[in-house]
Amino acid sequence: MKVLVTDPIADAGLERLREAGHEVETAYDVAGEELLSAVADANALVVRSGTDVSREVFEAASDLVIVGRAGIGVDNIDIDAATDHGVIVANAPEGNVRAAAEHTVAMAFAAARSIPQAHVRLKAGEWAKSDYLGTEVNGKTLGIVGFGRVGQEVAKRLGNLGMDLVVYDPYISEERADQFGAELVEELDACLTRADFLTIHTPLLPETRGMISDDELETFGDGYIVNCARGGIIDEPALAAAVEDGTVAGAALDVFEEEPLASDSPLADVDDIILTPHLGASTEAAQESVAVDTAEQVLAAFDEEP
Ligand code: NAD
Ligand code: MLT
Repeated sequence: MKVLVTDPIADAGLERLREAGHEVETAYDVAGEELLSAVADANALVVRSGTDVSREVFEAASDLVIVGRAGIGVDNIDIDAATDHGVIVANAPEGNVRAAAEHTVAMAFAAARSIPQAHVRLKAGEWAKSDYLGTEVNGKTLGIVGFGRVGQEVAKRLGNLGMDLVVYDPYISEERADQFGAELVEELDACLTRADFLTIHTPLLPETRGMISDDELETFGDGYIVNCARGGIIDEPALAAAVEDGTVAGAALDVFEEEPLASDSPLADVDDIILTPHLGASTEAAQESVAVDTAEQVLAAFDEEP
């Protein structure tokens, strides 16, 4: 079978596929006609978030059995088109959860203590000690929007650092929130009003697109927002304006509506918005784990196993 890999994944995953006797072709950064031609004779396609697996891809790939997503989010894959073409879509839901949670915590601290801003100034020879007065997480309230795998890992970590936890997730039970010492609230506004820090952990769905916009930012007010989930959940121009005018104290973003981030994005000009280029899952352990899990999913699909 031929496996086409269009976003870089760890060697361990590629080796697992080759050991099983399959042909593995890597073609990174392909899009448009080049992608359609590369996928034409593929039996499996393996991606991360960089490949747009559109309906055209499924139409061009008549022998495709499975699209393996070496990570969690499948919003870059047209699931309806996959279903119409009888192609399995399988993600790797566990391997990068802790990496994403740790990055979220790191981003919360970076925002609250202005670490990247102070770093840049010190590297430029400026001792700007008196310009930065940070905020402690201890004793503050963390609002968690989306209490699935990553949200729960963030709750464990920041709860242990002295934060009170308030959760908004309409699809989980009160008992689940209780297990983490968190209070489940029924309305997003209740979470926004109470939180000093807000972390977002939902998938990007029609229902979550733009769920944090002008009104929600106003309600949240003078705190820090971290989004290591998906771009598009927070309205970017609204966030840039709210941080610029001081309505919101600061933000840290790992994910963007358009990736790579456009150089003229309004987010780039606001000093109290910290940006990383979708690094949440980028640890050696996470990448090895999701690559191997994805390879196993591809092998199972080739063997017609569930
Ligand atoms: P998950 O499916 O385990 O959890 C998502 C949670 O969101 C669920 O509990 C669900 O009930 C909740 N949810 C759905 N709609 C909601 C809504 N309207 N309001 C509030 N909650 C809602 O997913 P996960 O593994 O925890 O991943 C969370 C997000 O993080 C995903 O978007 C994923 O793609 C992203 N992610 C990003 C990185 C990165 O590199 N930055 C790494 C891993 C995961
Ligand atoms: C994910 O949803 O798992 C993330 O986008 C991680 C990634 O593949 O970069």
